[in-house]
Amino acid sequence: MTSEGTHLDPKDWDDFSRDLHKLMDQCIARMKSARDLPWQPKPDGFADRLSLTREAIGVGTEQTFAQLADDIMPYATGNTHPRFFGWVHGAGLPVSVGAELVAATMNSNCGGRDHGAIEVERVTLDWLLGVSGLPESASAILTTGTSQATILALTAARNKQFGHDVRKTGIRALPSVAVYVRRGTHSCIGKALESMGYGTDAIHVVDTDDDMRMDIASLKRAVAKDKSVGRVPLAVIGTAGSVNTGSFDNLNEIADFCADQDIWLHVDAAFGFWTRLADHPWAQLVDGMERANSIACDFHKWMSVPYDCGACMIYDRSLHFDTFTSRPSYLEQQEEGLGGGDLWFCDYGLELSRGFRALKVWSAIKSIGTQAFSASITDNCKQTALMAELVEASDVLDLSFPVTSNICCFYIAYGNVNKIAAELQLSGDAVFSTTVIKGKACLRAALVNHRTTSEDIRQSIRAVEGVVRRHK
Ligand SMILES: Cc1ncc(COP(=O)(O)O)c(C=O)c1O
Repeated sequence: MTSEGTHLDPKDWDDFSRDLHKLMDQCIARMKSARDLPWQPKPDGFADRLSLTREAIGVGTEQTFAQLADDIMPYATGNTHPRFFGWVHGAGLPVSVGAELVAATMNSNCGGRDHGAIEVERVTLDWLLGVSGLPESASAILTTGTSQATILALTAARNKQFGHDVRKTGIRALPSVAVYVRRGTHSCIGKALESMGYGTDAIHVVDTDDDMRMDIASLKRAVAKDKSVGRVPLAVIGTAGSVNTGSFDNLNEIADFCADQDIWLHVDAAFGFWTRLADHPWAQLVDGMERANSIACDFHKWMSVPYDCGACMIYDRSLHFDTFTSRPSYLEQQEEGLGGGDLWFCDYGLELSRGFRALKVWSAIKSIGTQAFSASITDNCKQTALMAELVEASDVLDLSFPVTSNICCFYIAYGNVNKIAAELQLSGDAVFSTTVIKGKACLRAALVNHRTTSEDIRQSIRAVEGVVRRHK
């Protein structure tokens, strides 16, 4: 008997079912115990155990799944733990684990064609666009994250500015451009400009005002100066939730100026987008976002959808389509059958083959509903305010700036911040990251974790104070 057509599937489906059920139980046990499982460092020889030498491979699912559960799963980033406040990492959602299982089973290619997964993404994006407040004419696409979404958005801005011929001719013969960012903007803007061939020299950094917002008078001066020497203002980047301070630009003020000057307004709302779901006063932080030409945001941050998933939204569907569509004969639209369908996502981004990211987002919204997300996001903002209060009351900690939303940074009286952050991480007490504010190193907490409680905040600050005092 030939083995043709049976090389890669399980030899015995009952064995596979047993192995997968066991693995699922182990995953559920881990998710249930998230509070008891802080980040831990990899053991010595971790990579050796994973080696893919000839002798170590082809071992079947029982052994492979055992290794997934025992050797790999415990050494995660740690962001599932309620006292993980480092960088801006979402905590994950059990419901999306079910969706990931189904998405992998379906193995859909969401670049295009006429099948169910496309409709799931369409519905998910309709929901997202509804939250954004962008006009009916807007369109969107799911991306790996905000970094990729920013490339798409600024490419659309370039095509609006110079016409779609730029897709053929490139930017060589075009005038130089400027993209205006506030001080402390995320590095993804620079990376997008690098990948578009403009380079980071195209960035014009604008000062912030006393409220850590882009200073509009400085923006106006910068644009006027650039225009006077023939530099084309390509876009202004409004920040809705800055990575270091969680501050929000005055988007309405920037939108007024951009409308007056006919300049593209892109909003980096990687995590700040979701304050729109929060209670007053946080929901108002993104007022004016709906007037943007493009918005980038992440589901894997404050919406807790497992990595990775972000989104790019563009105010004008036909501009979005014309920026990316490319249909050679092998991708021609058919009138019927699988080659049909009116929405091919390859027309709205750089990827042709795309995974079924939408399912984990759709399942999260469907199962949990927006009210619970609103409550969780609001709680995080209140917890950040509590952290700031505790820092202010401490004799060994010093707040770096007044808290606006979900980011709290503070200086320490004794010791080195990087060492103290590492000690707290290694002890399992809490994960803070570090940054520099006003030229001075500090500990930084970004609260986007739906498992965090006020008691976690108190416990973490007590732990920080204890470690800092030991360094006296
Ligand atoms: C304000 C801001 N913009 C952009 C990004 C980049 O997003 P991503 O990591 O999803 O590419 C981040 C990530 O933390 C961020 O905080």
